[in-house]
Amino acid sequence: MTKTKMIIDCDTGVDDALAIAYILADPQIEVLGITATYGNIDLHSAARNSLSILELFHREDVGVYKGAEHAYDKTSYVRGNKSPLIHGENGIGNVDLGSPKKQPNKENAVDFIIDSAKRYKEDLHLVFVGPLTDLADCIRKDLEAMKLCGDITIMGGALTVKGNKSVYAEANICSDPSAAKEVFASPLHLSVIPLDATLKTLFKVSDIRSWKDLGFAGRSLYEIARFYYVHELGGEETGGAMHDPLAAYASKDPSIITNWFPCNLTVEENGRTIGSFEELNLKEKRHRVALDVDAKRFSDDYISSVSELIKRS
Ligand code: RIB
Ligand code: CA
Repeated sequence: MTKTKMIIDCDTGVDDALAIAYILADPQIEVLGITATYGNIDLHSAARNSLSILELFHREDVGVYKGAEHAYDKTSYVRGNKSPLIHGENGIGNVDLGSPKKQPNKENAVDFIIDSAKRYKEDLHLVFVGPLTDLADCIRKDLEAMKLCGDITIMGGALTVKGNKSVYAEANICSDPSAAKEVFASPLHLSVIPLDATLKTLFKVSDIRSWKDLGFAGRSLYEIARFYYVHELGGEETGGAMHDPLAAYASKDPSIITNWFPCNLTVEENGRTIGSFEELNLKEKRHRVALDVDAKRFSDDYISSVSELIKRS
């Protein structure tokens, strides 16, 4: 079996942590590294959270590489008011995993991604589940290398539904609209997983309750996820959206998306993702946008593979 070689760029956050757990769990994925960005929390805490999740599953062999500290149009990072309520003060549901033993790697995220693109070419799948500053930096630095990648998937945007940051805007795109605009205007072909699909993947506490009794790793991941499932949307009965895990899953297996809409995206001033009017008549569409998902298959696969990972840890 040829494994999908994957790098994920996270603003680790609870659903980011759940995406990391998933890519470690899936036997068809080889995790080359995790790059860190600001977003749900500051860059340094995001990197630390990723290291803690790797350690929880005894995967200290996977490196963590730091990327951007703030958005293009800002001079520093300021955490959004809602973020501690959804992801906890520490970004991982206020669960204390202690200080990770390892430090982030010396190489920065952009160089690590570009070097990997040159080395693995079409075998490399890149998944971006935070603000798009790191991806825009990679494009600015070496577009030709980025064109070699087999797949670039991003979690972001809202096409047919309202946003989660404002009525127009989704959080990842809205955190750095200038970077997102550059990314969408670039010649790269992208798979885009917006709220339209991810809001159909709501998990509840009851879906993962069995993890609680599966030792330290299971109990910790259960508590991390529980915080988010109770606080992200409308409370415990509504559950929380598996935004970032779905993006990672779709990068490995795009057939999980049952409606891909081809278009050329752009970003408006207010952070809204929308089809570019200037490119309306272009025959070639660079972006495919996920509008529907086989939520049952995704949920069954996610829970069974992460449960196996927990049992092994
Ligand atoms: O809008 C959802 C996205 O914003 C997810 O990536 C979540 O982790 C936050 O970054
Ligand atoms: Ca995220």
